[in-house]
Amino acid sequence: MSQMLRVDHAGEYGAARIYAGQLAVLRRSDAAPVLREMQTQEQQHLDRFADLIAQRRVRPTAMLPLWHLAGFALGAATAALGERAAMACTVAVEEAIDAHYADQIAALDDHEAELRSTLVRFRDDELQHRDIALQHGAEQAPGYRLLSAMIKTGCRLAIRISERV
Ligand SMILES: [Fe+2]
Ligand SMILES: [Fe+2]
Repeated sequence: MSQMLRVDHAGEYGAARIYAGQLAVLRRSDAAPVLREMQTQEQQHLDRFADLIAQRRVRPTAMLPLWHLAGFALGAATAALGERAAMACTVAVEEAIDAHYADQIAALDDHEAELRSTLVRFRDDELQHRDIALQHGAEQAPGYRLLSAMIKTGCRLAIRISERV
């Protein structure tokens, strides 16, 4: 349980930082309102996990300072490549998170019904983010497949590290 909450807190922390990085570059673009909307939801997810780890006395990952920088850098770098690359980043991240939340939801029994319904709700939000990003031309980003594969690999690695460290 500690690992589960630690990694989810870390992931939502990273997600909020990715959008902060994207908005630093794209704050005047057409994509800004939609990025802000997604960022607000990530902040709500993060706040929820921050409460949960405090309530259950779970130590946050020691990697938070790194995710602070890496999340922002990933967001800013993809945004610098253009709006569609920023959206491609969102699709890749959300697909990795979708699989991760699906695994967690399947692993929780009725003793954790409340947490499970929270994860179901957040997963729905993440899938909505993916769909929004697809509607904004994610797949038309230059080098989409490579970019997507690299980001997904990075996310999976970050997930494994944040569970343990
Ligand atoms: Fe989220
Ligand atoms: Fe998201």
